[in-house]
Amino acid sequence: MTVSARPVQANGTIVVVREKVTSAGANGMASVRSGTVYVDTVSGGIHGGAELLRPEAVPTIQARIMSVPAEIAAPSPQGPPLTDLVLDPAGGLTVSAELPGAPGSQATMRMNAGDAGSALSDYGRQVLEQLNAAPAPRPATAPALRHVNCDLVPCAALTYDDGPDARTTPQLLAILAEKKAHATFFMTGSNAAANPSIAKQVAQAGHAIGNHTFSHPNLTKLSPPAVKTEIERTDAAIASATGSIPTMMRPPYGAADAPVQAAVGKPLMLWAVDSLDWQSKNPAVFVPKVLKEIAPGAMVLMHDVQPTTIAGQQELITALQSQGYQLVSVPQLFEDVPLVPGHVYRSRPARQ
Ligand code: NI
Repeated sequence: MTVSARPVQANGTIVVVREKVTSAGANGMASVRSGTVYVDTVSGGIHGGAELLRPEAVPTIQARIMSVPAEIAAPSPQGPPLTDLVLDPAGGLTVSAELPGAPGSQATMRMNAGDAGSALSDYGRQVLEQLNAAPAPRPATAPALRHVNCDLVPCAALTYDDGPDARTTPQLLAILAEKKAHATFFMTGSNAAANPSIAKQVAQAGHAIGNHTFSHPNLTKLSPPAVKTEIERTDAAIASATGSIPTMMRPPYGAADAPVQAAVGKPLMLWAVDSLDWQSKNPAVFVPKVLKEIAPGAMVLMHDVQPTTIAGQQELITALQSQGYQLVSVPQLFEDVPLVPGHVYRSRPARQ
């Protein structure tokens, strides 16, 4: 069975997520079931569409969806099961149900805001209020400590390689702080050693730092002892700047083979989305590319040493957040996923 989840709407403290569950049947045919869930970004609570309705309103809706006037149909608790409820910000409700005797078939009915309003539960009215709320301030808790359940809420990890840079990295930190987003910086040891106070600012802002080697070589061209030296010198430079040794690494160019993986001694965090920001040097090119390729759980590769990359971050982060993405650090993204030294990761594994 596979589960995919796509944010379709986000406002206030609510993210509306479209879930698709594909299960392989005994006959080799896949069955697909989809539905809409409502996620509270403050509590992490996840609610099915049925919770939008007052229980008393359900039989009437079931009768209506069967195209039988509710007045003459005997409202029956054995009505067709409601399979999906989608509430829109205008208060309209689209209800789907499985037709009796025809498993897998769907009947869909749209109720206008007037009809839907009287059927909504207290919870349904709260969701409607949030969908119309002005963008809510995030909870006041320290962002670094904020818990995000990336199985329930769509998450993405923006990652920035090759810094820190004395000019561009502080500009990026300001944008991330304003957007209350967390990110991960894969630093080279040489740049961390050259800009220790910037590396420290990155850590103090709650972002994660990974090892990106000392001199940015293609590690597959080095002997295992030379690979180890690249890693250790970088650990030392970052630890001297920030007080912490990185627990994960990213090989330059994504280049790794079995001897490199064995010599690195840390999990290798690659990426699911390559912005190619260094190539286009153009936000009008790399921002749409990332937005097109993004999926929940992805690590996204960018470079904070490129001024043009910084120039696109406001737009990219705003777009991702408005799609409902929680922008988290790599350790937050992989919470509860055991990371094995020498293994390669590109995104958070999908919920099984
Ligand atoms: Ni690099």
